[in-house]
Amino acid sequence: MRVLVVGSGGREHTLVWKIAQDKSVEKVFCAPGNGGIREQAEIVNIKADDIAGLLNFAKENKVDLTIVGPEAPLVKGIVDSFLKEGLRVFGPTKELAMLEGSKVFAKKAMKKFGVPTADFEVFTDANKAKDYLKKKGAPIVVKADGLAAGKGVIVAQSVEEAEKAIDDILVKKIFGAAGNRLILEDCLEGEEASILVFTDGKTIMPLVTSQDHKRIFDNDKGPNTGGMGAYSPAPVVSEGIFNNIIEGVFKPLINGLANEGKIFKGVLYAGVMLTEKGPMVLEFNVRFGDPETQAVLPRLKSDLVEIMGACIDGSLDKINLEWDKRPCLCVVAASRDYPGPYEKNKEIRGLEEAKKMWDVVIFHAGTSLENGKIVTNGGRVLGVAGLGHDISSAKKKAYDALDKIKFDGIHYRKDIGDKAIKKNDK
Ligand code: AMP
Ligand code: GLY
Repeated sequence: MRVLVVGSGGREHTLVWKIAQDKSVEKVFCAPGNGGIREQAEIVNIKADDIAGLLNFAKENKVDLTIVGPEAPLVKGIVDSFLKEGLRVFGPTKELAMLEGSKVFAKKAMKKFGVPTADFEVFTDANKAKDYLKKKGAPIVVKADGLAAGKGVIVAQSVEEAEKAIDDILVKKIFGAAGNRLILEDCLEGEEASILVFTDGKTIMPLVTSQDHKRIFDNDKGPNTGGMGAYSPAPVVSEGIFNNIIEGVFKPLINGLANEGKIFKGVLYAGVMLTEKGPMVLEFNVRFGDPETQAVLPRLKSDLVEIMGACIDGSLDKINLEWDKRPCLCVVAASRDYPGPYEKNKEIRGLEEAKKMWDVVIFHAGTSLENGKIVTNGGRVLGVAGLGHDISSAKKKAYDALDKIKFDGIHYRKDIGDKAIKKNDK
């Protein structure tokens, strides 16, 4: 089988790394890829949102399966375009990608199908939004409706901060058309976890749980990032909570949509806040998480393309998922000053030595190959994943490997997994 993976981050390197090991896969392409992906795949110089370019490439190169990593091409309708041409592609159609592409669509679907989520109102008018804000007070959460590269959610601690966010989104249009509407939502408290399922629209097959670390500094301090590390499983998600999320979130949503003829095929990700009142959904993503994938897929023993094929064909009920029982923990190494503006083109040393370590995998994100050297090319540069018999030993593996890797300005959190380790020690 010839497979094309679309995207260029750590998530896509993980997908490529996993798929290249599948028995039925003879060739992997990745568009546009990064400096590390070329070890397992042929790099294709087409951007992830160039749907026409990707479609042509898939046809000309007899690609049997295309796997879409990031949300933007899904929301733009890449799956619809491929299906129209009779090509196999893993992911939801544009209509259902709106679960991520429009927070208003997602909240309305949750309300309709009884999925627990924070109370909310939708606004297009800044004055009406501010009237509601005055009634509600702070803290409150302001969310731009559309895709905003992870920056469209403001957890406002004061009314003034929320007013500014309303003006930024609805009046100044800092997110463009993604801010034509916004949501004001009750602020929830609790620990967050990422729950993902494979689905063909009928069968729901959960992946193992994971937890992201969104802030740049240790102890969840500093600004939000794309994700600074992850581990799997997340012990905060007990078996009872897990079942509650499958039964109370995924089943009503996926079955409810299917009853309306909207068949979700692909991987569906719920970002859940574990509140005192039970799990509440913060957001849906219609794709794998980044960096959760780097901690989850090293634990998957089953053939990934077979699972994806079953999602497409509606035969997921015939599949069994097999997982490595050992936890996996991934630490992200970032460029100096990320998530602000950062420098690129710093040579990365020590990769070969780190890669040789047992039960360690190095996933590239913002890297490129320049004159035979791997250099930094993004904010989040590498994900270093370790497997161990418990989360502490997985953590030690990942950090021992990271010790060997050097580049000018390297920054990483030292506390990935600590919440889970404390919980397990209790
Ligand atoms: P989202 O993109 O909706 O997941 O939001 C990004 C982040 O904002 C989440 O991971 C949470 O940390 C935070 N967040 C979103 N919604 C809420 C909420 N209702 N209450 C508290 N924090 C939230
Ligand atoms: N880790 C958060 C995300 O993938 O959206």
